[in-house]
Amino acid sequence: MASYVAAIDQGTTSTRCIIFDQKGTIISVAQKEHTQYYPKPGWVEHDPEEIWRNTLEVIAKARIDLNLQLKDVAALGITNQRETTVVWNKHTGKAYHNALVWQDMRTADDVTAFAADGGIDRFRDKTGLPLATYFSGLKLRWLLNHVPGLRADAEAGDALFGNIDSFLIWHLTGGVHGGKHLTDVTNASRTQLMNLHTMAWDDELLETLSIPRAMLPDIKPSSGLFGEVKSEVLPGVPITGVLGDQQAALVGQTCFEPGQAKNTYGTGCFLLLNTGTAIRPSTCGLLTTVAYQFGDEPPHYALEGSVAIAGALVQWLRDNLGIIQTSAEVQTLAAEVSDNGGAYIVPAFSGLYAPYWKSNARGVMAGLTGFVTKQHIARAVLEATAFQTYDVLKAMQEDSGVTLKALRVDGGMVVNELLMQFQADIADVPVDRPIITETTALGAAYAAGLAVGYWASKADLTANWGVEATFSPVMEAAQRNQLLTSWHKAVQRSFDWID
Ligand code: G3P
Repeated sequence: MASYVAAIDQGTTSTRCIIFDQKGTIISVAQKEHTQYYPKPGWVEHDPEEIWRNTLEVIAKARIDLNLQLKDVAALGITNQRETTVVWNKHTGKAYHNALVWQDMRTADDVTAFAADGGIDRFRDKTGLPLATYFSGLKLRWLLNHVPGLRADAEAGDALFGNIDSFLIWHLTGGVHGGKHLTDVTNASRTQLMNLHTMAWDDELLETLSIPRAMLPDIKPSSGLFGEVKSEVLPGVPITGVLGDQQAALVGQTCFEPGQAKNTYGTGCFLLLNTGTAIRPSTCGLLTTVAYQFGDEPPHYALEGSVAIAGALVQWLRDNLGIIQTSAEVQTLAAEVSDNGGAYIVPAFSGLYAPYWKSNARGVMAGLTGFVTKQHIARAVLEATAFQTYDVLKAMQEDSGVTLKALRVDGGMVVNELLMQFQADIADVPVDRPIITETTALGAAYAAGLAVGYWASKADLTANWGVEATFSPVMEAAQRNQLLTSWHKAVQRSFDWID
């Protein structure tokens, strides 16, 4: 039996390759950031060729660092930023356009136009999603309507659509020499083109959005054979796990029981609650999404609260305002004051996602007085993430009737103890930080390893999970309520900024 499982985590800001052993311990890791393109306010693009080059580079580096032999790698898992939309030519491998990133808002007019006939929830029954700039379907429609020649190529079957998972699978399994055009159920569930009930592309949705079916990948379970790697970085290694990154984190946190939830603090913040094999509709502004499907087992679903801006606000403080030099400094600065001094930041940079779904919202800073210092601003930056999480947690409790006993957390921001304590205080729930916080890559590795028998069952995975630290709520209810009242006033002020 080979000793390791490898995973690629292709995220919004960087690409990583992580190699795990059977205990879920990280054996080797390599990471490379890619360029963010902002051609206009609200537009965000990535260069797919750069992402592909970086993917090869990080796999090679992770292998070299470990002096890894091919026979040591049992399987490869892929996890990815979801919704980000790529279209490429199957004969040349070239992308027709930069990828439209999930945060990109150029489809706002389409959202308004389609919502005029049936409201933003007109596709919810089928897809579990409201109309929003967030999902792939409208992005793909934009590309088809704006890139010369693309629609004709798509109808002829020459142009292929994919999220980043499909784009990488196609390249890794041979590219122009017979690459496989596939996606998994979790990624497909974020396109707004898949019917959650049939787990297949929905002809009526495709017709409404004018998307040619010939350009769509085949949909597979998250754990199972996608193909063998042909690229020389890992030749012959089977790709046997593919999941959108937030679903992968749910698997990495081993939230396999209905009622278990995790919150990932990355560029954005994504809270997912496993609802079992039942499709649970939301009336409180959450998404219904596929959590995972392992082989022939029935799919599991989740309720998701998606927050667009979390860690990205810390980067904005660093890169746009220059108040801190490194992201880690936000905690040091925030810890110099005991509260936010009355300042609140609502980071509606991409509109507001769950539970509000306001494409026309924009960011606000509220409550400013001459008393407020950069220390208070740093604190308000961190608190914004906890407040947004509170909002989705509350919606989740209302939608599901589940009151969490503890919130499992992961992602880059969980090293920030001030944030974790404030999160426990504001949500009034214990926050459990696990020993392994690289849960996204781990979830993809788990799905891949299960398919090849590297792990025998989910019980093996659950046995790997353990708590490193618990943050217990200590804040008085009166203080919590006062903070939440001010936060919600600030949220209201961010609404309808754009006409
Ligand atoms: O839905 C967007 C999400 O998948 C992005 O995750 O970790 O790349 O910011 P991340």
